[in-house]
Amino acid sequence: CETIGMDKIQFQNSGAEANEAMIKLARKYGNEKKGPGKNVILTAYNSFHGRTLATLSATGQPGSAIHKGFEPLVEGFRYAEFNNLKSFEDAVTDDVVAIMVEPVQGEGGVYPATREFLQGLRKLCDDKKLLLLLDEVQTGWGRTGAVMSYMNYDIKPDAVTMAKAMGGGMPIAAMCATNEAMQSLSAGSHGTTFGGNPVCCAASYAAVSEIIDKNLSENAKEMGAYFSDKLRKLPHVSEVRGMGLLVGLVLDGDFAAEVKHDAFDRKLLMSVVKPNVIRMVPPLIVTKEEIDMACEIIGSILSEL
Ligand SMILES: Cc1ncc(COP(=O)(O)O)c(C=O)c1O
Repeated sequence: CETIGMDKIQFQNSGAEANEAMIKLARKYGNEKKGPGKNVILTAYNSFHGRTLATLSATGQPGSAIHKGFEPLVEGFRYAEFNNLKSFEDAVTDDVVAIMVEPVQGEGGVYPATREFLQGLRKLCDDKKLLLLLDEVQTGWGRTGAVMSYMNYDIKPDAVTMAKAMGGGMPIAAMCATNEAMQSLSAGSHGTTFGGNPVCCAASYAAVSEIIDKNLSENAKEMGAYFSDKLRKLPHVSEVRGMGLLVGLVLDGDFAAEVKHDAFDRKLLMSVVKPNVIRMVPPLIVTKEEIDMACEIIGSILSEL
């Protein structure tokens, strides 16, 4: 908590569960501190917050496979445009208690928040006495060139979730919050059997210590810039966006899946987030030589298209 400027931590087992905890915290804060009915959470279009019922309802992708067939969605969420401060300002009505966003929309196509947007949301939350909730399940612990992504923006949320990198492969997640925000989750109001189990906590302690002691955030920043520059020079690449080692490769056609399968055959893993967008999240310890190898593979696939 100290490293990231938070006061309290609640351990969970997955990113979605950590987001559930954060949603519950905000609702309780709203219902009890702000008054009955003040419990709506604003999230962004194109976001991704998980696949439990509350987190898929928080996910701003109406009509997508994430929502379809799972109706009725959980009420209490409204969506506004990512990177559009005015859209969020307009959506803040009397019943809103919190704003929840990812600093970089990963699943949604790798879109980093602009500095004006995230700082603007912080100010909006301060002015309207709302909680700013950040989902750093994907961006947390070194991935974007800072320990937590919000450190790149010189802001602090009221609560933040984390998973993936914090476990180094083991199933662990957490929500951290300020004392003020965490107070609403009073004893007995939230919990889980395996949350904070000793095995995953030991693994997480080791993973997080490596990230901090070896300054892997800095490696993510340097290698991310190196990787992105090299990718920009490859054929069929129309844009490379992202932050640190969370890299979105935008192609000039809808052949991301084809590229992914060819890369898999050559033992290079990547994921498709849009028909024309590939997301790559190399290990935080990746070297220049390994990036060169990856670019050679991607380059040869793209030039054969
Ligand atoms: C931003 C974000 N939030 C939440 C989740 C859900 O995490 P989990 O799959 O651990 O439940 C993910 C998973 O990719 C994610 O990227």
